[in-house]
Amino acid sequence: MPRMSYVNGRYLHHAQAMVHMEDRGYQFSDGIYEVIAFYNRRLLDGALHAKRLWRSLRELQIAGPMSERALALVMQEVIARNDRTDGTLYMQISRGVARRDHPFPKSARPSVVMAVTGPKSPKEKEVREGVSVITAPEQRWARRDIKSVSLLPNVLAKQAATAAGAREAWLVDENGMISEGAVSNNAIVGAKQEIITHPANENIQGGITRDVVLTLARKAGMKVVERPFSLKEALGAKEAFLTSTTSNVLPVVRIDGKPVGNGRPGPVTQKLLGLYHEHIYRETGKRWS
Ligand code: PDD
Repeated sequence: MPRMSYVNGRYLHHAQAMVHMEDRGYQFSDGIYEVIAFYNRRLLDGALHAKRLWRSLRELQIAGPMSERALALVMQEVIARNDRTDGTLYMQISRGVARRDHPFPKSARPSVVMAVTGPKSPKEKEVREGVSVITAPEQRWARRDIKSVSLLPNVLAKQAATAAGAREAWLVDENGMISEGAVSNNAIVGAKQEIITHPANENIQGGITRDVVLTLARKAGMKVVERPFSLKEALGAKEAFLTSTTSNVLPVVRIDGKPVGNGRPGPVTQKLLGLYHEHIYRETGKRWS
């Protein structure tokens, strides 16, 4: 089965899936996106992703391209037209195509594109042994809660991590406080086994995985503290981990080459990963060994 994508009402071979050069997403980053995992062709936490997507659209005053129900049906249809049972759905909605001019165009219709890629789960070794992160300067705008396609600072930070042989870059502001990763949220575990993570405000992109993991942790009676933490505190933490749609819950065992805790994944992180795998199973029927 060829790879099929969706562009503005049409299902096309991926190689033909294109938008116009004057699409405002391309020229101004004037658009938003979502990345949603699916297993057994079922979206994981689809309703939560949809809620965030519609919020992002409202925040940028981009008109809804179709009804919520219709958009959900298109997502399912794109998955159905590809041969993957497990994978990742990428969706982007821009303000549309119009002659280049900064103010919102009067008549443009939002552009909607969707594509399916393979599952991007971390390698078994990374889950078992944990991963390294580096730090990079936080240099993004002040509305990081909107999932906009304007990702240049994230791209640069993630590239620095890749060049350094690290999995992720943690973004540190001028006061030494960590906001989140270039492509993930993060948390540390304090002396009393409490999970400490940045609150979901305008300084971070409030991840769906983060929200689900915190809910699962609270339900399991674990202590969660939502407050910013510094790089210094992270280096002295018992454990650290990151969360995202494509990483699930991933132990972080080194920051800038220095070990976190004993340098191995800790019990709190492992417990959360187990809870998250159970959640995936309940939602989609996908079992992790
Ligand atoms: N990234 N923070 C940032 C900056 C992110 O880019 C992401 C996700 C997250 C985690 O969000 P979620 O749990 O909803 O995936 C946090 C996606 C996967 C990406 O850009 O590919």
